[in-house]
Amino acid sequence: MPSALFSPIKLAGLELDNRIVVAPMCQYSSLDGCATDWHIAHLGMLSGSGASLVIVEATHVERHGRITHGCMGLYSDDCEAALKRVIDFCRRAGTAKLGVQLAHAGRKASVQRPWQGGGPLTADEDPWATIGPSALPFGPGWQVPREMTADDMTRVREAFVKAAERAVRIGFDAIELHMAHGYLAHSFMSPLSNRRTDRYGGTPENRMRFPREIAEAVRQAVPRAIALGARITGSDWLDGGMTAADAVFCANTLKDSGFDYVDISSGGVSADSRNPTSPGYNVPIAERVRRDTGIATRTVGLIVTAKQAEAIVADGKADMVALARAVIDDPHWGWHAARALGAEVRRPNQYLRSSPSLWPGVAMRD
Ligand SMILES: Cc1cc2nc3c(=O)[nH]c(=O)nc-3n(C[C@H](O)[C@H](O)[C@H](O)COP(=O)(O)O)c2cc1C
Repeated sequence: MPSALFSPIKLAGLELDNRIVVAPMCQYSSLDGCATDWHIAHLGMLSGSGASLVIVEATHVERHGRITHGCMGLYSDDCEAALKRVIDFCRRAGTAKLGVQLAHAGRKASVQRPWQGGGPLTADEDPWATIGPSALPFGPGWQVPREMTADDMTRVREAFVKAAERAVRIGFDAIELHMAHGYLAHSFMSPLSNRRTDRYGGTPENRMRFPREIAEAVRQAVPRAIALGARITGSDWLDGGMTAADAVFCANTLKDSGFDYVDISSGGVSADSRNPTSPGYNVPIAERVRRDTGIATRTVGLIVTAKQAEAIVADGKADMVALARAVIDDPHWGWHAARALGAEVRRPNQYLRSSPSLWPGVAMRD
């Protein structure tokens, strides 16, 4: 039986030769939003991992939409030039197609890098004021965000459009919106963080309104051939929070707005939420979203082994899988999965002679 994981898939005009995607991973190593040499090393490595698509980390659409001072942005000409340099390099060095995750951190902005504590920036660390759907902090000790006005919503929506236009100019094959992990769009969707009484709060339709306006505006700006998707929330893992039914509603709304795919993630809406720790914990939600909406569906979260990833795709639970920590642990995860599943994977020309098919019967030396 040919491998399902190593079968091709088409998203809009984007042809992928397998179903393995490198999930977006913040590196906290940008300078005023601009990618650095770290990104050449990091994304250069991952673009040769055997995954068919690498999604660049949460890339923020305005300076104050960044999580930390080290987060990536796409809000200036300098940001655009710096990211283009990295992406041009990955095209020369790697085999993967390249996507970017556009984001706004909302009430989770203005925090320290994880290795500096990960808490809210203190007065001597150049903090900035945050915004959100309601004046509710992420957790105890966190900044209270300012409730967004109509002008704020217009500005942020236009910032998403401008960043998408920059991403198109850079030449990305896929663009995805970050609508999960408690950041701005998700905080509008979840009843735990959105207590508005205007037409942007209350019912699921109202809570989805601002994310939908962003999605529709970005859709207008992105040519149809580029795959356009979103990472969405499968569950808040808290009583009274978002559930799989909300994920179906969100995915249907995005499908109606002309989106090509969704990625099911979960958690992160408030400081007291905890994700499950079981393998593939988002898979059952992805399966339901895929079945109930028919949109191409990816999922993420403790997908670690080739066999596990193969079963998810072969059993029709998701169309694609995304990996974060496992592919950092093994930057040739896709090569090793191909070997385990008897499939072929593209390798950079410089590494072609390392294909196991060229050393049949030869055991790995100690
Ligand atoms: C270092 C690191 C940075 C991350 N940054 C992002 C990010 O920029 N955007 C995002 O949506 N998720 C981010 N995540 C979450 C991952 O994309 C992924 O959803 C999560 O780690 C679960 O997948 P895994 O079990 O394969 O690691 C990050 C995870 C890690 C470990």
